[in-house]
Amino acid sequence: MAETITIIDDRTGKQVTVPITGGVFPSSALRQLDPKLRVYDPAFLSTAACKSSITYLDGDAGILRYRGYPIEQLAEKSTFLEVAYLLLNGELPTDAQLEKWSYDVIHHTMIHENMRKRFVDGFHYDAHPMGMFTSAIAALGTFYPDAKDIHTKESLDKQTLRLIAKSPTIAAMCYRFSMGLPFVSPNNSLDYSANFLNMMFRIGDDHRVNPVLAKAMDLLFILHADHEQNCGTTAMRVVASSNADPYSAAAAASSALYGPLHGGANEAVVHMLSEIGSIDNVPTFIADVKAGKGRLMGFGHRVYKNYDPRAKIIKKAAYDVFEVTGKNPLLDIALKLEEAALKDDYFVQRKLYPNVDFYSGLIYQALGFPVEMFTVLFAIPRMTGWLAHYAELLRDDDQKISRPMQWYTGVDARDYVPLNKRK
Ligand code: SDX
Repeated sequence: MAETITIIDDRTGKQVTVPITGGVFPSSALRQLDPKLRVYDPAFLSTAACKSSITYLDGDAGILRYRGYPIEQLAEKSTFLEVAYLLLNGELPTDAQLEKWSYDVIHHTMIHENMRKRFVDGFHYDAHPMGMFTSAIAALGTFYPDAKDIHTKESLDKQTLRLIAKSPTIAAMCYRFSMGLPFVSPNNSLDYSANFLNMMFRIGDDHRVNPVLAKAMDLLFILHADHEQNCGTTAMRVVASSNADPYSAAAAASSALYGPLHGGANEAVVHMLSEIGSIDNVPTFIADVKAGKGRLMGFGHRVYKNYDPRAKIIKKAAYDVFEVTGKNPLLDIALKLEEAALKDDYFVQRKLYPNVDFYSGLIYQALGFPVEMFTVLFAIPRMTGWLAHYAELLRDDDQKISRPMQWYTGVDARDYVPLNKRK
């Protein structure tokens, strides 16, 4: 059977038949019927704004694959830098490629002293780290005259390397500033995630990063690296479409991620669990959510109508971390909430399951991060996904500057009313 769709405009009797490829049909079909006809699709619920070969999701089956590799296998067998290489280049690296990639990243982790000494000092003592991180990412581009040279592959690769390498350094700088602690410079003898934990928590020369915690951090980075056309990545692509530099685009993506309905949810989950306070209060909280008095943060997803595969992996990893750090007391409340929600019709009917943010905060807290740092921890690995999509958009001949149309619902033309004539 031909994979086509026929659309008939009943106002004119005109009809058009177009192919359906990969589950999509071209919106040009509508313009053939009526050049002024538009699809009204707020929040893009049924719109494929681009082609992409980076990440594949099947929301009903709870499947997530980076460049075809199941997230479960990458989580078990890979490292964040190897996954970053895969997302950016489309293939797993050879031994030599991984060695060069790792060397290049580790040797680009330093940031300009003006950022460490002057830029960050401009913030108020209690500035939110995510606001600082987002600002610093935008500012980072001003240190590189070649930041805007995005159509030369070598230059764009250099900006990509800088952003991936320096995001942990900037994140740690924001944290140390907010704690009134001296900055810790990158240590090139440590791997990506251990280096980040060292820059975050090093106090004194005898500080050692626990390898179990560094591995947990690396796993969380893998799980947060990309997620196709989420809100933050859409922001990245829209800004990339105007050919703004990747630092400015990443700052826009980071701003979108900051929202509590998106990457800010991991911070909101821990606030929610702390407010619930005890497993005895779970039934009342669930009843309040069902009465519309707020959301069960960390639950629900635009795409996943099944368990988020990342949430399953994170929940398991939590136990490994708690072996070292001691159990996070909020875990019991989270488990009780999940148990209650998964058997309650309100959530089952709406296909609301734990998402990536439901358990991640419990691990971050056990690793010693303050709640305000949680979304920054999401942004660090997602920087790679954002940059992979930035480059893919620039290479896509179907793409041009993003400029959606609208459904105008305002008033018709009217004449100006002088001030003394207005009611
Ligand atoms: C991330 O897109 C991505 O890929 C994002 C992400 C990534 O990796 O980039 O996966 C990361 O952002 C995960 C999501 C983190 N956000 C939260 O945990 C916040 C809580 N969740 C929701 O606000 C909500 O589920 C969203 C924002 C995640 C999805 O919202 P949708 O798809 O727009 O769904 P909706 O708001 O239209 O809700 C559908 C129904 C509504 O009920 P009715 O109006 O039909 O009666 O479900 C209800 C909602 O009220 N609902 C919830 C709920 N989420 C949806 N009710 C209670 N608790 C919730 N968490």
